[in-house]
Amino acid sequence: MNAPSRKMGLGGAEVVLSAQNLVKRFGGITATGNVSLDLTRGARHALIGPNGAGKTTLINLLTGVLDPTEGRITLEGEDITRLAPHQRVHRGMVRTFQINQLFKTMTPLETLALVIAQQKGQGARWWKPLGGDAAVAERAEQLLETFRLSEVRNQRTEHLAYGKRRLLEIAIALACEPRVLLLDEPVAGVPAGEREELLQTVAALPADVSVLLIEHDMDLVFSFANRMTVLVNGTVLTEGSPEQIANDPQVRAVYLGHGDDHHDAGNGTNAANGASHG
Ligand SMILES: Nc1ncnc2c1ncn2[C@@H]1O[C@H](COP(=O)(O)OP(=O)(O)O)[C@@H](O)[C@H]1O
Ligand SMILES: [Mg+2]
Repeated sequence: MNAPSRKMGLGGAEVVLSAQNLVKRFGGITATGNVSLDLTRGARHALIGPNGAGKTTLINLLTGVLDPTEGRITLEGEDITRLAPHQRVHRGMVRTFQINQLFKTMTPLETLALVIAQQKGQGARWWKPLGGDAAVAERAEQLLETFRLSEVRNQRTEHLAYGKRRLLEIAIALACEPRVLLLDEPVAGVPAGEREELLQTVAALPADVSVLLIEHDMDLVFSFANRMTVLVNGTVLTEGSPEQIANDPQVRAVYLGHGDDHHDAGNGTNAANGASHG
């Protein structure tokens, strides 16, 4: 039975995205072992854990890049477990877009206009003069402004500073009108001088969009999140408020405690300096 049902999470907040008992095996390797996770409406939820914990696999399961071996995923109460990635985007679950070759020669303005036009079902007409569609132009202007891209609006994306590219990636995701936004390491690789702008922009994301953030940068995680899930070895070690997570002895031992006198197990040394891979 796939009847939509309104599930309630902590404090009565509505659950928007729910992963139930997800399992993903690659041959003999269990990358995801019975993971359950609820994202409530408007959530600022961070997913953390050492390299190899299964964060990327979980995001790939949620977005439909990978099929789970077992388990179920619901979005707004609807079963989306077997939907293709683009069908999930249509239903409002959007992951930050990696800028690819297609956009290299395009400007931020052109790129956003293209995505907005497609979102409005005008994919075939995107290349018409922008003035031809006031609604598209206005939304593009808004996003350029919000994401501090106004000054570089007419530069080819291949010439943008790295931080501006990451801002454009998030702007593109928002142009898809997400209800759930999956942010995969938004500040990874961004030089110190460009970080603050990115942090402020992430902090100012629309309140009604539910955000799941994967990030190694603990400054960002703890300034952003009001809920945190810690993955270790493919399973949920614990979930809680940032305060609970910061003070959890188990979490400190496996992940946060590297600055202390703990012996490092050898796979979590990237906690402070960013991921080796996404
Ligand atoms: N396509 C794959 N085939 C085999 N093993 C995989 C594959 N993808 C991930 N894994 C394994 O699953 C585990 C979790 O990986 P991953 O999800 O990338 O972790 P994280 O993103 O937290 O660093 C690792 O042991 C990894 O080697
Ligand atoms: Mg990863």
